[in-house]
Amino acid sequence: MIQCSDDVFENVMDLARRRGFIWPTSECYGAVAGFIDYGPLGAMMKRRVENIWRDFYIVREGYYEIECPTIAQEAVFIASGHVKGFSDKMCQCPHCREYLRADHVAEAGNIRNASVMKNEDLAAAITSCRCPACDDILGNVEVFNFNLMFSTTIGPGSQRTGYLRPETAQGMFVDFSRLLRFYRDKLPFGAVQIGKSYRNEISPRQGMIRLREFTQAEAEIFVHPNEKNHHPSFIRYADYRMPLLTFTRQQNCEDPVEMSMREAVDKGIIANEYVAYYVALTHELLVTIGIKPERLRFRQHLPDERAHYATDCWDAEVFSPRFGWVETVGIADRTDYDLHAHAAQSGTPMTVFIQYDEPKKISRRRIIPNMSVLGKQYRTKAKAIFAALEAAIPTPEGADIEIGDEKIHIPAHLFEVRDEVIDIRGEDIVPHVIEPSYGIDRMCYAVLEQAYDEDIADGEKRTVMRLSPNVAPVQVAVFPLMARDGLDIIADDITRTFHKKGILAEYDDNGAIGRRYRRQDEIGTPFAITVDYTSKENNTVTLRDRDSMEQVRILIPELTETIGALVEGCITFASLHRNKTV
Ligand code: GAP
Repeated sequence: MIQCSDDVFENVMDLARRRGFIWPTSECYGAVAGFIDYGPLGAMMKRRVENIWRDFYIVREGYYEIECPTIAQEAVFIASGHVKGFSDKMCQCPHCREYLRADHVAEAGNIRNASVMKNEDLAAAITSCRCPACDDILGNVEVFNFNLMFSTTIGPGSQRTGYLRPETAQGMFVDFSRLLRFYRDKLPFGAVQIGKSYRNEISPRQGMIRLREFTQAEAEIFVHPNEKNHHPSFIRYADYRMPLLTFTRQQNCEDPVEMSMREAVDKGIIANEYVAYYVALTHELLVTIGIKPERLRFRQHLPDERAHYATDCWDAEVFSPRFGWVETVGIADRTDYDLHAHAAQSGTPMTVFIQYDEPKKISRRRIIPNMSVLGKQYRTKAKAIFAALEAAIPTPEGADIEIGDEKIHIPAHLFEVRDEVIDIRGEDIVPHVIEPSYGIDRMCYAVLEQAYDEDIADGEKRTVMRLSPNVAPVQVAVFPLMARDGLDIIADDITRTFHKKGILAEYDDNGAIGRRYRRQDEIGTPFAITVDYTSKENNTVTLRDRDSMEQVRILIPELTETIGALVEGCITFASLHRNKTV
């Protein structure tokens, strides 16, 4: 069992503020809850997390990235259901006047299923709960729905309503027809987007976990509804094993069960191969950025918790001593809900023509009107009659049709009935959408929290961020032992060589070498190089590993390749250490 402790959150946030990872926004005016700034190191780390995400989805999966505006017109969010239904249950503390998430108040008071209760029932259930802001017993409160979208108007003096997007997904749905053409009218295909989303959260008090402006990385993968159980690369993850907290296990209060993706699909636990594939890929991605597998689980949504559009949904949850299990990624089968909704709202068909392997032959009866006679006889109604005749069922006497309220009998000599066999080449279908949706800020918080550590170095307490080298903002530090005797020139040369290769190296000649190591340990720099007097004799430097604090001597010309391989995870420091020690 993982022990709960609040300290790590305080420690991480303190370090994050001091060392330039994250701080409250517009502090000089008084920070606003739910908004944060990424400082110089935080912005770099976030970029690295996003680029690993891009590597998985764009480079490996082949889904191109698009970039849509963060504001969209109202029609988009009417279709998506956000205007009507994107709300949280809110109440106001009668004592301190603080606005509260009523379902969160209930959950803190051990009231189950709060999010699916009716407002009146929830209000009754929380009367004996305490206000999280002032700690008084709430008593009688009203619970009402609060829409989380930020609204605006588009254009000066305009009556045109717009909203800041609450998810990046809708941009990819409304671009469906253009994306389909880009992918040459073939399924499956996917589009991805990384960008800001906005939700006017009711009382965001959880640091980076609940923000009003946050970054999402979403993929929308469009598949044939009958092909969801045939992911073309499923073999890659078929044997990938992980603990799954299925909805039945939650209902029976059981622990997660470990199984492979193949097993989970075959037993009907995960709805289909596509969902299972992205559950496994998400697990791999989160472990790649430094999330410890023992602090990661995949929880299936309970049937009454699932969004109205989803048939199956799994959350990647990361354990935090402060916040418990935090939903960090959601993987949903959104069916054809979104494309149907946007097609209906916009009047633009959102279908794909699926060509059959072999054309299908079908028999049909066609009614071919005698245009010249019908035209003369029925004049203005003739066009409507032609159309109605196509669907009519003829008898030897003629055909009965309806034009508006009028019933008309068309005698048989005014049309010809022709039976024919025709080739059908294919059909129009509405694709289904599989959506892995990542919260980049929650990923960054989990990375920081799990990296934070304290140990003893040289008899002193050391604070060390054990960041995975692939997300560490500074990748290598370069120190001349003394800032003289040419050691500084060699160190400066090494630093510049790293920069030319795209490796972020930080030169530091300030203070005792031990202090310099501590400064880099605290910001998670995984490797440090020291240029000393031996460097002048044999063209070598020491390379120190942040975590083990071990050192090896290495030839200067080998440095960029070695650091590159260490950062990419192609080699380990231990493997270097086995060969050459100081
Ligand atoms: N398109 C689906 C969607 O938006 P979601 O579960 O509402 O699904 C996906 O959001 C992810 O976005 C979450 O798993 C979470 O990591 C992140 N997220 C959602 N709301 C957030 C907030 N207020 N602050 C920070 N991250 C948030």
